[in-house]
Order: sequence, then structure tokens, then C-alpha cells
Amino acid sequence: MKKLLVTGGAGFLGSHLCERLLAAGHDVLCVDNFFTGTKANVAHLTKHPRFELMRHDITFPLYVEVDEIYNLACPASPIHYQFDPVQTTKTSVHGAINMLGLAKRVKAKVLQASTSEVYGDPQVHPQPETYWGRVNPVGPRSCYDEGKRCAETLFFDYWRQHRLRIKVVRIFNTYGPRMHPDDGRVVSNFIMQALKGEDITIYGDGMQTRSFCYVDDLVEAMIRMMATADDFAGRYGRLR
Ligand SMILES: NC(=O)c1ccc[n+]([C@@H]2O[C@H](COP(=O)([O-])OP(=O)(O)OC[C@H]3O[C@@H](n4cnc5c(N)ncnc54)[C@H](O)[C@@H]3O)[C@@H](O)[C@H]2O)c1
Repeated sequence: MKKLLVTGGAGFLGSHLCERLLAAGHDVLCVDNFFTGTKANVAHLTKHPRFELMRHDITFPLYVEVDEIYNLACPASPIHYQFDPVQTTKTSVHGAINMLGLAKRVKAKVLQASTSEVYGDPQVHPQPETYWGRVNPVGPRSCYDEGKRCAETLFFDYWRQHRLRIKVVRIFNTYGPRMHPDDGRVVSNFIMQALKGEDITIYGDGMQTRSFCYVDDLVEAMIRMMATADDFAGRYGRLR
């Protein structure tokens, strides 16, 4: 049994991850400031003897003893991350610094929930990991895209400088139960329009591509990623 920390654990992806980690027999500390997540998302877990829920904003330091950290805390859709863009950048950057600092102190392994948005408005489709992206540093989406890019930078520098055991996963559109129905993203839009019997909106000429992932598959991937060899961080293959 390991002691695991899930930041953003009361959110859509985090709540599923907490569920799976508990089912695997681990002790799970779920930390969330409930900005977009809710207690209702983890209400079915709160009676579990190995589950603990803590209200905390990861832009502030956290002192706990854990073996592994899954860092998911961050609003994920434009309407949410543009609501308070300064806080969004702080959550990605200060949050990463705080989680990396914690991981260093307690010698924990740490996984970052990064995003396909690190590629910005890409000119290459599909994006190989060697592609560095095309990102606007000063636009309304920059708080999210650049915040996540800076978080990745911090993760790799903590590996280079401190040999911290890091894992970075770049998540593409994920869908499933407990996703936010009104977040304006493509799958939630389709489902909400279908439920209301409305026409389904397809933007542009309909020739664009998207990569979709079901939440259970993503959670499985994150857990498997955490279990990979210490010299595997998820970018450029093996760390050297
Ligand atoms: N869902 C997707 O398709 C997708 C795609 C790419 C990346 N991601 C990443 O995965 C992670 C989880 O996304 P999600 O879809 O579950 O979103 P979500 O909004 O449901 O979950 C994010 C959680 O983080 C919490 N949070 C936000 N700021 C915080 C802070 N400062 N301190 C503590 N908690 C905070 C929120 O309250 C929420 O519970 C995010 O980091 C997101 O960027 C998700």
C-alpha cells in the first residue's frame, strides 16, 4: 500500500483517479480548492477508510508525507481557466513548484497532468512529441497553454538539477461521467445538444481532427505511466 496524493482530486479526471487508486489498495489524499471540482464528485469515497479529502489551494505550499503525487489541479476548459487567468497561471506554475518541492523533500515520484494545448495552434497534425508547438504567449489562452508549458519546464529541470523522479503526460480531449456539461468543449457540447434534441454544431469546414480518450483509459494510462522505470519521463523516451 502506498500513500498517494492527487491534486485536483475532486475534479472530473481526479475523482476517477482517486477511485481507481483506492480500488488498487492505496491510501489516497485528495487535495482540491473546489474551484471547478465538487465534493459531490468524491462523495461516494468520503466514507472509505483509506480516503482523505483536504481543501487546499496548491499555489500555497503543502506539507504532507506521500510516496507519489499526481498533479492534476488546474481548471481545464477555456471558460474556467479564463475566469481568473492570473490564478490559472499561478496554479500551473506555483502549483508545480510547490508539488515538485514537496516531492523533493519527501523523495516522492511526481506525475504532471499536462495537455495537448502545449502545442498551441499547431501546424503539424498529428503532433509528434518532438514538435515544440506554436503558442501565443500573450493571448487569452496563454494563461493555460504557457502555464502548462512552464510547468513542464519545471518538471524537467527538477529532473536535470535534482534527479527527481518525474512523469509528464500530455492529455488530449478526455470524456466520460462527471465531465462538466457546460464547459463549451466539443464532447460536452455534442452530448448536451443531442440530449436537448438540437442540431450538433461542427465548427469550420468539418475537416479538422481531434483526439478523444475515454476517462477509464486515461486513468489506466496515468497509473501505468507512474509505474514506468525511473528513467522514463514521457518525453524524448528515456531520460539521460
Ligand atoms: N479533461 C481533459 O480533456 C484534459 C485535457 C488536457 C489536460 N487536462 C488536465 O487534467 C487535469 C484535470 O482536468 P479535469 O478535466 O479533471 O478538470 P477539472 O476542472 O474537472 O479538475 C481540475 C480540479 O483542480 C481543482 N483546482 C483548480 N485549481 C486548483 C488549485 N489552485 N488548488 C487546488 N485545486 C485546484 C479544481 O477545483 C478541480 O477539482 C488538469 O490539470 C487539466 O489541465 C485535462
